[in-house]
Amino acid sequence: MSDVVTVEKENKIAIVTVNRPDALNALNSDVLDGLKRAAEVVSQDENVLVVIVTGAGEKAFVAGADIKEMIGKTPMQMRQFTMLGHHIMGMFAKMEKPTIAAVNGFALGGGCELAIACDIRLASDNAKLGVPEVSLGIFPGFGGTQRLTKLLGKGRACELVFTGKMIKAEEAERIGLVNKVVPQAELMNEAKALATEISSKGPLAVGLAKSAINRALEVGLDDGLAYERELVSLAFSTEDKEEGLKAFMEKRPPEFKGK
Ligand code: COA
Repeated sequence: MSDVVTVEKENKIAIVTVNRPDALNALNSDVLDGLKRAAEVVSQDENVLVVIVTGAGEKAFVAGADIKEMIGKTPMQMRQFTMLGHHIMGMFAKMEKPTIAAVNGFALGGGCELAIACDIRLASDNAKLGVPEVSLGIFPGFGGTQRLTKLLGKGRACELVFTGKMIKAEEAERIGLVNKVVPQAELMNEAKALATEISSKGPLAVGLAKSAINRALEVGLDDGLAYERELVSLAFSTEDKEEGLKAFMEKRPPEFKGK
């Protein structure tokens, strides 16, 4: 696929790894291209039910956009770069299958933005998260001002964005920036266990539920409920719904086919 972004499959789980540990997995153009291709591949692969995103090595998830590459960019080149960043973050946020960020170290700037584009975040106990862009005279441009605000509320988003400070994993968990902190050695096992649990559920239902949850962030309650009604009704058209209800009545585990 790509040297700097790898995709491995284990059962029904895909693991997307940003693999540039010497640069703390910073997002340069090659990594962005690799992430775009990885997102396309995993979203289209019917055998992949859950996606884990992580970084290579023990130090960083992703330490942000590649500062060295950014230095020579013109405003229009920066616009292209952020458009690509928005597109890729959107691919992970919107694909109709769950995405879990396994935050294995620094998740800064674009790395924090990649983590919050995923649906669920598990962090290792050595992880540090933040959006330090204002220290460079710029500000988060891969969705941070929008997704951090939706995730944490305005006050906490402003504090993180305006100070650029890095927070430890425990603090990130306390404010809801990550779902759970685990010892570093356990991180991938925990992420895989969570992915396996989700992958045992009706995949079409999980995908539709993600779509409905995403809608909650974009529209008012009545419109969101209308969308939820449509998608719940759609779930009633699936073989999985027949199987799920039948299995319950027969007191056995369901065998979902994603149909
Ligand atoms: N872009 C490009 N290269 C980066 C990078 C980034 N965002 N973050 C780290 N690197 C590179 C460093 O330049 C260094 O490369 P070198 O060995 O060729 O000099 C290597 O990764 C290791 O980083 P280093 O700074 O030596 O590690 P550290 O443990 O001292 O510090 C950080 C770690 C994360 C605190 C520090 O690297 C940092 O502040 N990075 C920038 C974070 C940031 O501002 N991100 C938002 C960018 S918009």
